Amino acid sequence: MKKMEEKILNEAAVLPGGVLKVGSFLNQQVDTKFMKEVGEEIARLYKDEGVTKILTIEASGIPIAIAAGFAMEVPVVYAKKNKSSNVSGDSYSTPVKSFTHGDTNNVIVTKEYLSKDDKILIVDDFLAHGSALTGLIDITKQAGASLAGCVAAIEKGFQMGGDKLRAKGYRIESLAIIDEMTDDEIVFREQ
Ligand code: G4P
Repeated sequence: MKKMEEKILNEAAVLPGGVLKVGSFLNQQVDTKFMKEVGEEIARLYKDEGVTKILTIEASGIPIAIAAGFAMEVPVVYAKKNKSSNVSGDSYSTPVKSFTHGDTNNVIVTKEYLSKDDKILIVDDFLAHGSALTGLIDITKQAGASLAGCVAAIEKGFQMGGDKLRAKGYRIESLAIIDEMTDDEIVFREQ
């Protein structure tokens, strides 16, 4: 999505440790007009897939998932993060290790919100090492639902998570893929 690349070039900052700051439009402040276009682009990519539900993870995945949910007219379910390992039997759960933050959360979805009749589209803000998407794919499998694919607003291609998931046969769409980034330059993958 050309406009996602333009937003990154115009508004993002490269921080130490391979972190891209996108607080002005995606993370802390949400550019709602732009987000509407993001939702419509996600709907276009998956329009023929019979998606019944969007699955994301709190917190920063939620605005993007809601925008896609509006455009596709399907409900959005978001997984919650829980530090405790006490998970009750009425939830699907899976551990997700964050490479960025160096901790592990149990990611939890109440069973009644996903069923084997659902076709799930997984949506998140960043795709880095792929742990969050892998966790959400695992929850989709636990529910016996089918998976249409995944969308990330921004993929950091140099952290390899997206390509590892593609190699396993999953459909992974990213609205912008960054293959290299330094203080001076951001290089996007041609798609
Ligand atoms: P992974 O899921 O692909 O393996 O990524 P990783 O563990 O590295 O990401 C952990 C968290 O850091 C995620 O948010 C992810 O969205 C965020 N993140 C990863 N890379 C970047 C980046 O370059 N810039 C920004 N702004 N965020 C990044 P989270 O911990 O789940 O937090 P949140 O959703 O509550 O914000």
